[in-house]
Amino acid sequence: MNLNKYFRLITILTLLQLSSYAQKGKSGLIKPGSVWPDNMGNHIQAHGGGIIKLGKVYYWFGEYRAKDNDPSFRYVGVYSSENLSDWKFLKKIPFSDPENLGEKWVLERPKVYYNEKSKKFVMYMHLDDAKYRFARVGIAVSDKPDGEYTFVKSFRPLGLESRDIGQFIDDDGSAYLIFESRPTKGFYIARLSDDYLNVEKETAYINAPLEGGAIIQYKGLYYAIGSALTGWRPNPNKYATATSLSGPWSEFKHIAPPETNTYQSQSTMMLKVAGSKATTVIFMADQWKPASQWDSRYLWMPLEIGGGELKLPEPKPWKVNFKTGKAEVKK
Ligand code: GAL
Repeated sequence: MNLNKYFRLITILTLLQLSSYAQKGKSGLIKPGSVWPDNMGNHIQAHGGGIIKLGKVYYWFGEYRAKDNDPSFRYVGVYSSENLSDWKFLKKIPFSDPENLGEKWVLERPKVYYNEKSKKFVMYMHLDDAKYRFARVGIAVSDKPDGEYTFVKSFRPLGLESRDIGQFIDDDGSAYLIFESRPTKGFYIARLSDDYLNVEKETAYINAPLEGGAIIQYKGLYYAIGSALTGWRPNPNKYATATSLSGPWSEFKHIAPPETNTYQSQSTMMLKVAGSKATTVIFMADQWKPASQWDSRYLWMPLEIGGGELKLPEPKPWKVNFKTGKAEVKK
C-alpha cells in the first residue's frame, strides 16, 4: 500500500470510530436518577418541569437551578428533543422579581402551553415569597418556545391559594391547570380560558392533600398522580382514577411500594407516546437535592398502566420505540 492510500484508510477508520462514538452518545436511553447531560455536556436544568410537543419536537421547560445563576433572577430552562433522551439546550429564560416578593422569592414548576389561536406560548409558574404565603400563579407570554417571555400578571386561580402547579392537555386539546390548595386540603383541576390567559372554570376539586399534580388520559380513563406535602423530601406518591375529569374520583392508592418513597422521587408530569402497537405513559419526577439543587436528578419511567391500575416499576435504563410506541426496559 502506498503512503497516500494508507493515510486515507487511517482517516476513514478514525471517522468511523468517531461516528460510532456519536451514535453511542445518542443511544436513546433514559437513565433514571443519573446525571443527564444536554448537548453542551451540562446536567439538564429543567426541574419541576413540563413537556409539550409541537410537530416532531418535544420542548422541556423547568426550573433552571444552575450553581452559577445570578441570585437576583430566577430562570426557566428550555430544551428540545425528538427522542426524549438527547436534549438540546435552547435557553435559560430570565425573570426578575415581578411582584416585590423579596430577596428569596420563588419561581417554581413552570409549565408552558401553546395556544393555537393566538400562536403564543403561555407560561404558568408558581410565584411565591420566601415563606410561601403569596401562593399565586404568574403568567408570561412569548412568540417562540425559547423567545423573550413578557410577564403579564399574577393571580390566584379561581380566587384560591395556589402552590404546586401541574399541566394537563386532553386529547381534544382542552388545557387545564392542576393546583394544590392548602386551605381546603385538596387540589383543583381547572380549565383555562380560550386564550390561556386565565383559569376559567373549576372542573374538579379533589379532596386529597396532594401536590406535584399530574394527569393523563389513557384508554378513556383519567389517572391523577400526586405527592404528599413533605417539601423536598420524597414520599409515597398516590394515584386515583375517574371516567370523567370532573369525577367522581376513586380513592387514592400507592403507585410504588411505599417504603421506596416513589424511588426517592416526586411527580411532576405524565406524558404519552403513541405508536403503531402501543402507547407508553411516562412518569416524570424529580429527585430533589435541597442542598445542591443544581444536581437534582430526574426519574422518568414507563408506567404499567391499564384497567384502572397504575404501577411505577423499579427504575432501570429504558427507551421508547417511537414506531411501535412500546417501552423497552433494560433487564
Ligand atoms: C415541595 C414542592 C416543590 C417546592 C418545595 C419547597 O413540596 O413540590 O415544588 O415548593 O416543596 O419546599
